Amino acid sequence: MSQKATNLRINAERLWDTIMETAQIGATAKGGVRRLTLSDLDRRVRDWFVDACKKAGCSITVDDMGNIFARRPGKNPNLAPIAVGSHLDTQPSGGKFDGIIGVLSGLELLRTLNEAGIETEAPIEVIDWTNEEGSRFAPAMLASGVFAGKFSREYAYARADREGKSFGEELERIGYRGEAPCGAHPLSAFFELHIEQGPILEAEGKIIGVVTDVQGMRWYEVTVEGEDCHAGSTPMPMRKDALLASAQMIAAINAVGRRHAPHAVATVGLIEAQPNSRNVIPGKTFFTIDIRHPQDAVLATMEEEITSELNAIAEASGVSLALERVWNSPPVPFAKACVDAVREAARDLGLPSREIISGAGHDAAYVAAVAPTAMIFVPCERGVSHNELEKAEPEHVAAGADVLLRAVLATDARLAEGARA
Ligand code: GLV
Ligand code: MN
Ligand code: MN
Repeated sequence: MSQKATNLRINAERLWDTIMETAQIGATAKGGVRRLTLSDLDRRVRDWFVDACKKAGCSITVDDMGNIFARRPGKNPNLAPIAVGSHLDTQPSGGKFDGIIGVLSGLELLRTLNEAGIETEAPIEVIDWTNEEGSRFAPAMLASGVFAGKFSREYAYARADREGKSFGEELERIGYRGEAPCGAHPLSAFFELHIEQGPILEAEGKIIGVVTDVQGMRWYEVTVEGEDCHAGSTPMPMRKDALLASAQMIAAINAVGRRHAPHAVATVGLIEAQPNSRNVIPGKTFFTIDIRHPQDAVLATMEEEITSELNAIAEASGVSLALERVWNSPPVPFAKACVDAVREAARDLGLPSREIISGAGHDAAYVAAVAPTAMIFVPCERGVSHNELEKAEPEHVAAGADVLLRAVLATDARLAEGARA
């Protein structure tokens, strides 16, 4: 790396101001962001991002999954770009940082390179991946999954939200169904900066997490059917209460998570009951299950336990059960060269760091199947995330962006050497 590149730092204040500026798009009263995938607010933040990248001299490509690629050219057009990025969509009660800092630190990186007049060997791209959260359209990481060949485009277009609106229609409606076929876009490397979304870095006083792996995760959808009946006149022994059976199932799922401590987690995050009337015994429920663990074999055992326990509860309660696995994202190890680049960048910048496994899903996990990939974590207060109160320190976000910049420039220097050899 040249001396100029070695001394280069991002503009911390500008990055922070940019994060706060975009946080106005979908701002909530409690200080969070609600910007669901393919909503009008998602369109607004995309328009903002495209405009900012154009002002930074980039050309823009939008693929047919709505992924946005902002490209700063390099000296060698034969090299595939080094990409950075994450997602601008949020949870319904999301924060200002999850995903967002990964995209906006990419924009800051472009601005920093422009100001310093640094020409990289490979092009640099900043990516906004569509529907990372999976909250409106399950599963998560849908568009990076199509990019990596894990899902077909037709499958993705057919995903529907709880109102029945499809991903394909909504993508078209907000005007972000691009021309470029998703996936036909080689990358030399991909780096994603993200908040940790857990408590480890903060507890240990570390500023940088060198992410080595992403744990495995599986999602399920469950429908329980009993019988609607009058709440006043149906004796307790005669009821087929789908909600009561579901409550027992939720407790059983939680117990499976606890049984595989300390690394397993199991969550029911969404439940709907019908007819949802205070004097009707609920005849039908729909709920979701999310289980995670760093080892696939443990996930398989958890799945078996959940299946058998839910069936037993259904039988004892006189209700029927339909349990479907809708997503399986196995554990992912990141590429050594990229992980090393992150570790060395943190070391060279004198930032306390540790290796860490990601508990959250990230687009990087899918991109890793098609390009050398790694992630950088920075702490968030008390590990709280998927929450409007999500908070990260400006200096930690800036440190993460500096590590990102340095890892990208080191990777570029390595590619330049390879191209000369
Ligand atoms: C995405 O945020 C996930 O980890 O589910
Ligand atoms: Mn995220
Ligand atoms: Mn998230």
